[in-house]
Amino acid sequence: MICSKAPGKIILFGEHFVVKGLPGIGMAVSSYAKACVEESDKNTVLSKQLGLVYDEAGGVGFGSGFEVIFKLIASMGCSKRARAYIDSSIFMGSGMGSSAASSVALIHALMRFCGLDPSKEVVSRIAFEAEKAVHGKPSGIDNTLATYGGLLYYRSGVFERIDIKWPEEYSLLVVNTGIHRETGVVVKEVLDLYERRREVLEHIYRAAEELVNQALAMLRRGDFENLGELMNINQGLLYTVNVSCPKCEEIIWLLRRNKALGVKLSGAGRGGIIIALYRKKDLEGVRQLLKEESLVVSLDEQGVLSIS
Ligand code: PMV
Repeated sequence: MICSKAPGKIILFGEHFVVKGLPGIGMAVSSYAKACVEESDKNTVLSKQLGLVYDEAGGVGFGSGFEVIFKLIASMGCSKRARAYIDSSIFMGSGMGSSAASSVALIHALMRFCGLDPSKEVVSRIAFEAEKAVHGKPSGIDNTLATYGGLLYYRSGVFERIDIKWPEEYSLLVVNTGIHRETGVVVKEVLDLYERRREVLEHIYRAAEELVNQALAMLRRGDFENLGELMNINQGLLYTVNVSCPKCEEIIWLLRRNKALGVKLSGAGRGGIIIALYRKKDLEGVRQLLKEESLVVSLDEQGVLSIS
């Protein structure tokens, strides 16, 4: 079997404000989707978490990202058919980019299986097409981070890698609220609020821009002790545009009372995931305080990789 893996992501700073052309910072994290492929007489995809998600002969998963992936790879000259298995530790439907990571791992494994060169540029481009089939109007951050890994500063569709080493002493705790939300619905509500309260909110958006630029400078300096404070301020701005939720706040305050350096929601909000920056030594025992599932992650620097 030919296997590849790709990382999930979090948004460290700037979600929602990026929709209005302001900057954001996204990060690939050490939680992965793994895809393995072997020869078969038809194209199928079996997910360990979701069961059969695509079967070209059985009418399962038509119109999905998987159909797009198989079509695009066939159009590159691959006539072989494959049975694919996907196994992922990334929380699903929570803003961690699990669909993009699965797509990227699958595309990478399929291209190798077909004897095609899985260049990052091509893998990311095909994954973006698959994301369009699933999410309508994706920003491109999920497939870019799953493919290239690293930390990205992005603005209006332009992604710039921030080359830093993640210090050993720090981790991110990712907590799944378990509340699923439609990113598009939340984004529209925030944009409507902005139109109604523009004179007030333009100051908040301006603050978000300054905050992301200060966060970028702190990351480059390796000043992780102070980064948490900016995460807390970012959460305040997100609360102001009404994308927090009671359960989000419960988790946020529990972690703040238990030594987190900074805590915020990540992604669209109203549920999804909460991220907390911790000194590694302070993390012990914290996860047991939570009712919700959680992951401890750090920066993934490599993006998609062959694993066999
Ligand atoms: O829910 P996620 O993690 O895919 O994040 C959405 C991020 C937003 O800024 C709210 C929307 C966007 O397209 O950037």
